[in-house]
Amino acid sequence: MSSSKKPSKYVAREPNAEGFIAYTDLEHQTWQRLIERQLKVVPGRACDEYLHGLELLNLPQDRIPQLEEVSRVLRRETGWETARVPALIGFETFFRLLSERKFPVATFIRSPEEFDYLQEPDIFHEIFGHCAMLTNPAFANFTQKYGELGLNASPKERAYLARLYWFTVEFGLLNTKDGLRIYGGGILSSPKETLYALSEEPVRAPFEVVDTLRTPYRIDIVQPIYYVLSDLEELQQLTEIDLMARVREAMAAGLFEPMFPPKEAA
Ligand SMILES: [Fe+2]
Repeated sequence: MSSSKKPSKYVAREPNAEGFIAYTDLEHQTWQRLIERQLKVVPGRACDEYLHGLELLNLPQDRIPQLEEVSRVLRRETGWETARVPALIGFETFFRLLSERKFPVATFIRSPEEFDYLQEPDIFHEIFGHCAMLTNPAFANFTQKYGELGLNASPKERAYLARLYWFTVEFGLLNTKDGLRIYGGGILSSPKETLYALSEEPVRAPFEVVDTLRTPYRIDIVQPIYYVLSDLEELQQLTEIDLMARVREAMAAGLFEPMFPPKEAA
């Protein structure tokens, strides 16, 4: 999720009068290290739609891209664009932006100390992880629909909906004729989870919407379970059914037992 109430140590960079966001050399170097590392692991592991999206985006490797460079491609392909936001935004803003086909991107990049893992979604996670898939119509339509539903949902319904987002947009897997592939941006922006998600270790279950809505997750561990789509068109189909009826069904049935240990008290 791009949304939390916890304060962040990061501050998003603001554009100058021309709309240009300047980053430090160190920040550009961090981007370069992250993208070079990740480009080595995504071929053969990310789905073709993602890799095609990456080609379309043609992201620079030696510097952090400006949001407009990414938006130009998204607008042309699916009518999406990026939206510059502070390091953390509330659920309301998050859902509203998605409902308007604007993907929130906080304009900061992780510090070298948090190179391998950080809780806040930074510009590398948002752009490298998510924007390539936003060139795919089924994924793009589903993400907008999720925003629309979330905007009108109660807090409890939102908590259920968040699990659907988690197990698709963030941590979704896809069966293809060439084998199992990844489309979730939470996986594809992490080298460790890109390898782990396709390994023998985690449980993989066929995607079923009510099951995903009922599956608890933790954001600070690799996922013990992933849900696997048989086709990205399943995301399109989710925009055409009464998804809130499925949310109410999931709420009535309640959550599954967590497959992970409880988080230790700090
Ligand atoms: Fe994300």
